Amino acid sequence: MTTPTTQTVYQALGREAGVHALVQRFYALMDELPESFALRMMHPESLSGSETSLFEFLSGWFGGPDLYVAKKGHPRLRMRHANYRVSPAMRDQWLLCMTQALTEQVTDEDLRSRLIEKFSQMATHLLNSADGVAGTGSAAQQRGDNISVNLITPRTTMKTAHDLVAAAKARIQEVAITEAEQAILDADILIDVREADEYAAGHLSGAIHASRGLLEFKLSSSPELSSRDLRIVLYCKTSGRAALAACALRDMGYLQVKSISGGFDAWVAGGKPVVKPSLPAFE
Ligand code: HEM
Repeated sequence: MTTPTTQTVYQALGREAGVHALVQRFYALMDELPESFALRMMHPESLSGSETSLFEFLSGWFGGPDLYVAKKGHPRLRMRHANYRVSPAMRDQWLLCMTQALTEQVTDEDLRSRLIEKFSQMATHLLNSADGVAGTGSAAQQRGDNISVNLITPRTTMKTAHDLVAAAKARIQEVAITEAEQAILDADILIDVREADEYAAGHLSGAIHASRGLLEFKLSSSPELSSRDLRIVLYCKTSGRAALAACALRDMGYLQVKSISGGFDAWVAGGKPVVKPSLPAFE
């Protein structure tokens, strides 16, 4: 993208510092505006990785160093958004934050309206859902070959449990087993989401039991656990169920949910202590 003069948009925005400031403000707005709450929920707990990706992408898109391509290859933004439900409502929330950030940071009105137009086109191009069902575009669309608008593309392939877990893991924060003890110490609540018999056979000290199927119901019926800032750590046997459960809790609005990578099995393999409730003794 270049301005009508010889300057690139990157230069007009103030190069690295200007693009950085725009991206930082965009995510700060996403984090704080009540209107963008659903969009915020789609993103990881920490926005720093998202900030880096968008900054690196925009650097190249605006005519500066192509940092994103150097790191990750072709942007393929439609493909990279395929796991997220980009509906018109989400697009509008995204554009609300970006328009506000541009309004605050870009004084040149001409440049600002051109940028709003470009972002609107790109955001519309990324739409993959009109009704809450995630969709994938054609190969050409996924490569991002052109930015023609194709609003609804039905899903034609089934997803496996593995796909669902992989998508869930992209949305949540997993802690490595080496950091699990600290995460548990920092948490308000540690939840074992395995089945009751697995929990009974041995669990982490201090963990309460709420199997994945009942988790949302148990939390909803416990007013003392209703704060969206509640620091929650989840684990299951190997981390698949905990990842899916963490996603559900993010969707409920909890902001600080972590899942232990590798789960109970990795904990035991690391030689860490478990609690085994003793069976009642009969004299
Ligand atoms: C239209 C509404 C949009 C929604 C709902 C949306 C949502 C998301 C989400 C949830 C992520 C993953 C964040 C993470 O895991 O860190 C993401 C990543 C990203 N988004 Fe968007 N986005 C939207 C529009 C845009 C637009 C218009 C652009 C560019 C102008 C953009 C550029 C990116 C980039 C570069 C990434 C990183 C992709 C990667 O490296 O995997 N997004 N987006």
